[in-house]
Amino acid sequence: MTQVIRTSAELREKVAAWKRSGMLVGVVPTMGALHDGHLSLARAAREQSDRVIVTIFVNPMQFNNPDDLTKYPRDEAHDLALLEAEGVDVLFAPGVDEVYPDGFATTVSVSGVSEPLEGAFRPGHFDGVATVVAKLFGMTQAGRAFFGEKDWQQLQVVRRLVEDLNIPIRIIGCPTIREADGLAMSSRNVRLSAAERAQAPALHQIMQAAAAEIRDGAPVGETLMNAQAAILEAGFSAVEYLELRSVEGLRPMANLSEPARMLVAAQLGDVRLIDNIAV
Ligand code: PAJ
Repeated sequence: MTQVIRTSAELREKVAAWKRSGMLVGVVPTMGALHDGHLSLARAAREQSDRVIVTIFVNPMQFNNPDDLTKYPRDEAHDLALLEAEGVDVLFAPGVDEVYPDGFATTVSVSGVSEPLEGAFRPGHFDGVATVVAKLFGMTQAGRAFFGEKDWQQLQVVRRLVEDLNIPIRIIGCPTIREADGLAMSSRNVRLSAAERAQAPALHQIMQAAAAEIRDGAPVGETLMNAQAAILEAGFSAVEYLELRSVEGLRPMANLSEPARMLVAAQLGDVRLIDNIAV
């Protein structure tokens, strides 16, 4: 049975009891509308911890676009059934007032790694993420936290946060889960029309082809420019960024001098898709 807990006081008691019996607690922070990507994190947590908490909180502070927040899919009953099937111990689903009570006045801001890419196109987004993640770590008191590589920059921001603030938690990055046609799973994919859903996999395919060319020695700038044109050609209305960055620290890379990540954000209809792959 997955127990649903809504207050941090109740959660704290539960976790304290687990810890008294020497158990290692794992947490998977999410915003719900769960898919196989989220569930792969819950499975990793199950394998690598004694007790598993999945959190569901659609965090208003990290939405720079009010429309995106309103349209964010929510279905807690369905999510709970999926978590039951994965043997998750606790679903922590606090309300907005529990997380941001009256008088709430603190913002956690990670500089550097949070500034380019998503940080540049979604002002305030990573402040919202860092603040809520720091709170969720405080509320759950977990020893391990599981994050997806799907949000590569977010993973780097969270790693920086726990190191800088000496938060006693180990961050585990887990691989991106994709649909059979290569589209990275995302809660926002349900908002794609049938036609857009058919176009969406081009993003990953074009990135794979560009990554292969760069590995074979093609010039980075030109290859990315061609890939960007191909993404637009495939039906996307805009490419916000398509860049090659260092795996650690996300420094811009003009050539493949060290392990790299290719990261993209592109608009398809009114849905914004992000993805990244190893190069
Ligand atoms: P959300 O988008 O719900 O994602 C929750 C976790 O699932 C994140 O770690 C994300 O990287 C991971 N994830 C999403 N799609 C995935 C996929 N296709 N494969 C593998 N992992 C995937 O990311 C957030 O929520 C929020 O910013 C949060 C960290 C919960 C803070 O509010």
